[in-house]
Amino acid sequence: MNFFKAPQLGTALLIGSLAFLFSNTAQGQHASPWNAPESVQSQKNPFPADNASVARGKNSYKLECARCHGLTGQGDGVAAPKLGKVLPDLGDPAVQNQTDGELFWKISEGRKPMPYKAKALTDDQRWDVINYLRSLRHT
Ligand code: HEC
Repeated sequence: MNFFKAPQLGTALLIGSLAFLFSNTAQGQHASPWNAPESVQSQKNPFPADNASVARGKNSYKLECARCHGLTGQGDGVAAPKLGKVLPDLGDPAVQNQTDGELFWKISEGRKPMPYKAKALTDDQRWDVINYLRSLRHT
């Protein structure tokens, strides 16, 4: 009888995986709100947004963020079309009106497909990246 069960199990697994993939895709089309916890809102950036910090931040951003967000944050990175999620324009008020603490938390936590701690960046590097992000604000 085990002979019959194996293909049934295979079919069940296949249907399960397809349903999972499909639900992920469907989720991607409706951006749900992404809110940082209140406790991080007033966290201060340890680095002043001087030229040196912005330059360091730009460097890290190029390595860890630009492939999705594009060099100027407009969501036009090479990997963007494959993400199945709409990328926010990082210069828009929706992003720029958030505090450094909120942005730091989001860049640290990530949210699929955005990677956790943007993979390889240290705390200091992420604070510098935020100073670079501030330079992308639309005037
Ligand atoms: C693999 C692609 C990818 C990479 C790499 C990536 N992001 Fe993102 N990022 C996204 C996606 C997709 C969203 C939208 C996430 C959502 O709304 O769930 C996002 C959202 C954001 C947001 C907006 C959060 C908000 O409030 O809506 C910020 C800020 C951000 N990313 C900064 C960065 C920074 C800085 C880096 C590099 C350190 C980075 N991202 C790396 C894909 C990426």
